[in-house]
Amino acid sequence: MLVVTMVIALAGATGTIGKATLKRLIQLGHEVLELSRQDLGSPEACHKAISMKASTVKEPIGAVISCIASRTGEADDAWAVDYQANANLLTAAQRCGVEQFVLLSAICVQKPKLAFQHAKLKFEDELKASGLSYSIVRPTAFFKSLSGQLARVRKGGPFYVFGNGRLTYCKPISDDDLAGFLVDCLSQPKRSNKTLIVGGPGPAVCPMDQIAMIESILKTKVKVRHVPIAVLQGIINGLDLLGRVHAKFAAKADYARIGLYYATESMLAWDETTQSYREDLTPSIGSQQLIDHYRRVLLEDPA
Ligand SMILES: NC(=O)c1ccc[n+]([C@@H]2O[C@H](COP(=O)([O-])OP(=O)(O)OC[C@H]3O[C@@H](n4cnc5c(N)ncnc54)[C@H](OP(=O)(O)O)[C@@H]3O)[C@@H](O)[C@H]2O)c1
Repeated sequence: MLVVTMVIALAGATGTIGKATLKRLIQLGHEVLELSRQDLGSPEACHKAISMKASTVKEPIGAVISCIASRTGEADDAWAVDYQANANLLTAAQRCGVEQFVLLSAICVQKPKLAFQHAKLKFEDELKASGLSYSIVRPTAFFKSLSGQLARVRKGGPFYVFGNGRLTYCKPISDDDLAGFLVDCLSQPKRSNKTLIVGGPGPAVCPMDQIAMIESILKTKVKVRHVPIAVLQGIINGLDLLGRVHAKFAAKADYARIGLYYATESMLAWDETTQSYREDLTPSIGSQQLIDHYRRVLLEDPA
């Protein structure tokens, strides 16, 4: 396939998906100007940073890709990063005459309940109204989000699931497959001015399916601990009460609310008509499978 190379300004190149995107852009021969968190502090700082970096390359900047996100997920940080830093980037991109913007968003914004989801949605709306050609990519769960319990399970510890372990489903996507999709948005006109939900290859999986994968790799039974949703709800209620006297408990309650969201909402396309999550409406892209990632982490990577 012939790839027309471009100059790309990439924000978030130090993050999980940003790193994979940087790698893919370089593989394809694009010239990449990386924007750090300092560069995105204000529209003026961002404009200055982009202009300075652009002066070091021969071609004008063809597109911006944003893979930034709040590292903490706390409400204030989410508004500062998922909304404001992206808005700074958009303003600077417009001032610099950039015509295309690819945004990494998240599938969960389709049913917004949490601060970071509202922050992302507000920026998505501004991007759509900006006049730039845009691709808003809303992926399902990343491999890393489904791997947090592997180290404990490998040492013989339990795998915790909420309820019966079949409350939520997703179509896991690898960093490289998602990065490939983001980069392909640069050259595929049919992805222009679209909001694109993406899932990884293979069928939707729930936590019990993850356990079955681990058992097939380790060839042993995994201890499963079932945590009732009511327990998580009770913790949130308790932290909310304590949060009235100390802000640190309010912040913990917000984290627990994020946990409750992911314990009860699937990362699949939401169908308003049937009021249900639909695997069949969640497009599959890429080729890398979660079970192969698990095999690497459990058997090959001692970290
Ligand atoms: N985890 C999942 O399963 C999942 C699923 C769907 C969608 N998503 C979405 O995917 C996105 C990216 O996730 P990720 O895991 O790649 O993120 P990540 O590894 O946490 O990386 C975040 C990136 O944003 C940058 N950043 C943080 N604060 C910044 C600021 N104030 N100004 C500018 N840049 C800043 C970070 O830079 P520093 O290195 O300087 O901190 C880093 O490059 C998020 O929007 C997330 O909601 C995640």
